[in-house]
Amino acid sequence: MKRLAILGSTGSIGQSTLSIVEQFPERYAVAALAAGHNVDEAFAQAVRWRPKVISLATEELAGELALRLRQAGVAGIETVHGAKGTIACSTLPEADFVVSAIVGVAGLEATHAAILAGKPVGLANKECMVAAGEILTRAARERKTPILPIDSEHNAVHQCLRVGAHNEVKFIWLTASGGPFRQLPLDQFASITPEQALKHPTWVMGRRITIDSATMLNKGLEVIEACRLFDVTPQQVRVTIHPQSTVHSLVEYVDGSILAQISVTDMRLPILYALAWPERPKSTLTFDLAELRRLDFEQPDFERFPCLRLAFEAAEKGGAHCIALNAADEVAVGAFLEGRICFTGIPRTIEKVLAATAEAHPATIAEVLAADREARERARALLE
Ligand SMILES: NC(=O)c1ccc[n+]([C@@H]2O[C@H](COP(=O)([O-])OP(=O)(O)OC[C@H]3O[C@@H](n4cnc5c(N)ncnc54)[C@H](OP(=O)(O)O)[C@@H]3O)[C@@H](O)[C@H]2O)c1
Repeated sequence: MKRLAILGSTGSIGQSTLSIVEQFPERYAVAALAAGHNVDEAFAQAVRWRPKVISLATEELAGELALRLRQAGVAGIETVHGAKGTIACSTLPEADFVVSAIVGVAGLEATHAAILAGKPVGLANKECMVAAGEILTRAARERKTPILPIDSEHNAVHQCLRVGAHNEVKFIWLTASGGPFRQLPLDQFASITPEQALKHPTWVMGRRITIDSATMLNKGLEVIEACRLFDVTPQQVRVTIHPQSTVHSLVEYVDGSILAQISVTDMRLPILYALAWPERPKSTLTFDLAELRRLDFEQPDFERFPCLRLAFEAAEKGGAHCIALNAADEVAVGAFLEGRICFTGIPRTIEKVLAATAEAHPATIAEVLAADREARERARALLE
């Protein structure tokens, strides 16, 4: 029985993880839950799953949750809050496995703490790998604790890498759906609305990642994530647009063989893989190959998707540039969703923040968070 600490339990990945626990009660149980601001969902989860600890973003929200639990006659659940609360969840001695699915760098400290505590981590939170990948992977290597990717592309790569050696890998090919604007005339990009950008053609996800998929910044973050997780250079990572989202990613080996992973477009599969690794439990998440008619692949266009170019450039520079890429994007996406900037303002903001970022390689989480704050302030100042 694996007891899970789920960080970001009220989000899309968090809820999919809980549905896996529901499906496999003999394999998984819930030890801790960490959420942000959704008290209603956190309350429902606490009542259903009876974790030992539950965390919310603020003291006030945690107090409200504690009161509601008392009123409902639910005892024995400790309510905590803030960054310390999330860390208390990720390092809980009773937890055997941590699912890192908070959105943004808000999940970084708790993910780092989990690795330092020697807990295997199922990683959905790509932003923390982009901001502090070197620190996280070094800590994991030193403690011999696995980081198992939940991001579907990296999960696919992880699966394809099980059959070859590191020095046999030529390229990692990350597939991208191309998002909703793959074929939109370029002169219409400036007038894209948040509602249009929030409609992803193949995946249902949180708001930031959905906008990041539309700009393809998400794929750019994944390029950096791949470099860190699999210890390859940016030149070894290629992106191909694959609108069907059926092939989740591929590994090309030096002998010319290319291995691909195909499965349903359902995040529960990579989550189950990460939770069960190195086993493969029987599941109902089957894919009907007989129904498959075509697989298309095309080159991404950097003019259409400047965020992808910016991400490759940041990947080359590493350190502060990767941190700034993610931070500037988060601020710009927020501004776009609030109607303060247009869609093409997102890459413009990121490009300006990157141009103003000095080359640096933060060596601690505190330094990473400081560089992140600096980039955010720069992005906010630009937007004002
Ligand atoms: N969804 C996908 O299919 C998918 C696929 C691959 C990778 N990912 C990655 O997985 C991560 C989560 O994505 P998602 O789509 O699940 O996002 P989401 O639906 O927006 O959920 C985000 C979660 O983070 C929590 N959160 C936000 N700020 C927090 C804070 N300061 N402290 C504690 N918790 C906080 C939210 O809590 P509240 O809702 O309670 O505020 C929520 O539980 C992202 O890094 C994303 O890139 C997602």
